[in-house]
Amino acid sequence: MDKAKRLEEIAKEIERCKVCQKGKSGKAVAGEGCPDARIVFVGEAPGRTEAATGRPFVGRSGNFLRSLIKEIGLKEEDAFITSPVKYLPDKGTPSKSDIKHGRLHLLAQLKIIDPKIIILLGKVACFGVIEEEIAINKRHGEVIQKDDQRYFVTFHPSAALRFPPLGKLLKSDFEKLRNIIKKL
Ligand code: URA
Repeated sequence: MDKAKRLEEIAKEIERCKVCQKGKSGKAVAGEGCPDARIVFVGEAPGRTEAATGRPFVGRSGNFLRSLIKEIGLKEEDAFITSPVKYLPDKGTPSKSDIKHGRLHLLAQLKIIDPKIIILLGKVACFGVIEEEIAINKRHGEVIQKDDQRYFVTFHPSAALRFPPLGKLLKSDFEKLRNIIKKL
């Protein structure tokens, strides 16, 4: 089975997944982009706009992320965009157990895509993918090599929108990322 079909199978599993749906609402947001992407962006959990459309990062912070992706010369369709939590949490932020369950679907997606680098957008993305509690304010802009996979840590775009000084740091991290990507 090719990568696109395998990813579709996972998206269907997410749509049927009762554990994912517990304490959450709206449409499933599995992720979107190139099945063969060299770069995967991982966020936190869908917001209202994402839950209404079933598409990742299409609200305010999504527009910001998508503009940063374009600014560093990447086409959205060359990347894959997803999150550890696949439905909108009723409480706004996902619980540890939401992340621990959602990551199983995410890891299956990452295994299929097999990207050169995974961009971890914020604390939940770090915990959801590498199971580490990372202080983003100290480690942003760092490349982490773990188990034969390269990761890049930065802020979640919604944190940058809430607190503008972080927006500047996020932009300069993306400039670093531009150079890293050139060498991939
Ligand atoms: N924030 C995320 O982390 N993921 C989305 O899909 C949208 C907003």
